[in-house]
Amino acid sequence: MPVSDLVPDGIFFDHLANKRFPAGAFIRSEQEMDYLEEPDVFHDVFGHVPMHAHKVFGDFLQHYGAVCARVQDKDVLEKIGRLFWYTVEFGLIRQNGKVKVYGSGVISSHGECENVIRGGCEVRDFTLGQFFDVWGVRFTKDCIGGYCTKGNDKLRVFSDGKPVTGDPTNLVLSSHQVIAVVFGPVQSTPTIRTTYQFDD
Ligand SMILES: [Fe+2]
Repeated sequence: MPVSDLVPDGIFFDHLANKRFPAGAFIRSEQEMDYLEEPDVFHDVFGHVPMHAHKVFGDFLQHYGAVCARVQDKDVLEKIGRLFWYTVEFGLIRQNGKVKVYGSGVISSHGECENVIRGGCEVRDFTLGQFFDVWGVRFTKDCIGGYCTKGNDKLRVFSDGKPVTGDPTNLVLSSHQVIAVVFGPVQSTPTIRTTYQFDD
């Protein structure tokens, strides 16, 4: 649906939750052809909308809107907002060793796309520890949230079914990796999922 400007968060989330996407009803000027901060029709319709045809992505966006619409805590909302900002808006994807443009803010800028493809920006790996940091949940080699290794109760992490040795906070996240974090008696043998049918 067309909008004349940025819409407040609450309205934006409500639209997403109801499978509507607000798109700027104006277009950048010739002087701002390469990049502009406000989302114009090119950014929204060329950068965002094609991804909405992907069922997994579309469902994620709807769910994201529904969750955010219910969150009252500003700090929590800011953290969830980072997920959107660093993926949907400005994310990159590494696929079969190649870095690809994913975020709509990058896709809708010729200069930003060229910069990524020519290796002009630093591309970092992310670790399981950083994931928990962003999530705001304590995660160390011995603790997850309020649960810490004590007696027989241990924290164990599995990556694609294999036990992670060493500090699991340093585990580098990769595409289609299946990670299981298990806390409980070390003698127990939990069922660890080793694969997942990802819908590409
Ligand atoms: Fe955007």
